[in-house]
Amino acid sequence: MEIKIEQGSIESSAADTLIVNLFEGVTNPGGATGAVDHALGGAISDLIAGGDLKGKAGEVAVLYPRGAVGARRVLVVGLGQAESLTLEGVRRASAAAIKRARDLNAGHVATIVHGAGIGGLDAAAAAQATVEGALLATYRFAAQKKQEAVNDIATLTIVERDAGRLEAIRQGAALGEAVAGGVAVARDLVNMPPNVATPTRLAERARQIATERGLAVTVGDRAWAAERHMGAFLAVAQGAGEPPAFIVLEHNAERTDLPAIVLVGKGITFDTGGISLKPGDRMWEMKSDMGGAAAVLGAMDAVGRLGLPLRVIGITPCTENMPDAAAYRPADVITAANGKTIEIISTDAEGRMVLADALVYAAQYQPAAVIDLATLTGACVVALGSGVAAGIFCNDDGLRDRLLAAAEATYERLWPLPLYDDYRRTINSEVADMKNSGGRFGGVGTSAVFLREFTDYPWAHLDIAGMALADRAGDYTPVGGTGFGVRLLVEYLRGL
Ligand code: BES
Ligand code: MN
Ligand code: ZN
Repeated sequence: MEIKIEQGSIESSAADTLIVNLFEGVTNPGGATGAVDHALGGAISDLIAGGDLKGKAGEVAVLYPRGAVGARRVLVVGLGQAESLTLEGVRRASAAAIKRARDLNAGHVATIVHGAGIGGLDAAAAAQATVEGALLATYRFAAQKKQEAVNDIATLTIVERDAGRLEAIRQGAALGEAVAGGVAVARDLVNMPPNVATPTRLAERARQIATERGLAVTVGDRAWAAERHMGAFLAVAQGAGEPPAFIVLEHNAERTDLPAIVLVGKGITFDTGGISLKPGDRMWEMKSDMGGAAAVLGAMDAVGRLGLPLRVIGITPCTENMPDAAAYRPADVITAANGKTIEIISTDAEGRMVLADALVYAAQYQPAAVIDLATLTGACVVALGSGVAAGIFCNDDGLRDRLLAAAEATYERLWPLPLYDDYRRTINSEVADMKNSGGRFGGVGTSAVFLREFTDYPWAHLDIAGMALADRAGDYTPVGGTGFGVRLLVEYLRGL
């Protein structure tokens, strides 16, 4: 879907479908909705008066102007109460309207920016949310099957009457496009089956992003990792049939004058549990165990496209976790890149292993902040639920506050969990510096203090287990890969 920006009045648009909006409780619409109502001889007011249209959030009314305006159909989307409209409300309204337009076979849709009028939202932010809602809701994965024919809307034109607001809207819309593009990158990677989205394939995608966005890229293989003493990463890769890939993308690589922000994403392309084999019934879900890596690659795509004035490094240690004659096993003692030793209790606690070496690698950039994203623990899903919020552990108040603000703005929610020292004893080992599992209780906290052993900079760990893969569709999130984290990361970086 191509996004265009146009100055004018929406009722005279050349589009086949117009989208306007209505707040709950409004009986006599003003602004663009009022202008369309007027052109339609009061048809919208009639619907309101008859109780057919209330302006409730998510509600969409369809009107047929039959020549009263150029468009074939007019959609009125409800925004709910004006006082409580948020950017998330705008994304949802935009999504509801565009999905209806798509189902009605629209080819060219014109919309106003939702919420920037009496909604009182910032015009650029509202335009971004309008575009994001439309693009994210119409995302489709090109699955390897005969697809039923679905209408793809060719063009979405944002129409704004006020010339003074056009530039802000243009900027917001461009941001929305870049961010939604990054989310699609991440969703695609999670949606690909694990025999396709191998570490090699993720590396190919990273190279492609680097070329398209002008980033520097490094792909480390087993020998490269061995030279760097990445024993923890290599232990997990030991049993993998697919070659591992330690991927590093750098935006503004040469600009050592800029503060460096490092993003780290867990890239287990399939997690069988290894020798500590998982039960079979829902094992297929572990194709999403590279959701952190997907989010980092998607965010790097958007960062490069936006040319953010920061130095941003994306690191994704990628490998399968498979049982094999060569696989690492419980009781093995492994040495990570910082020299610390790890007694393996469960080969299914593999995420923290690959992250350990990636977090050590991140230190060379003297980062202002390191943020890791990982589908790390079932315990986090037990604590916060599936598809509700990611857990955040952070050793720096300023970094935590900025991430929480970005979470609020994007509705990619984070809930703070404690980095208590008390968790550390659960991973005390008789034979190594630490164990890789602290047992059943407090499993999410234990995993975080394990990771802390490999950090010496401002750091945030986001446990996104339960967020990377959706079993139910949301307003603008289809079933499957969600791309969780991309919008959050870009919002955080933009705020710096
Ligand atoms: N990838 C899993 C965690 C996971 C579970 C992600 C559910 C998404 C949904 C991770 O590698 C894992 O197996 N964690 C173990 C850790 C345990 C062995 C200490 C877990 O949570 O059971
Ligand atoms: Mn595991
Ligand atoms: Zn895992």
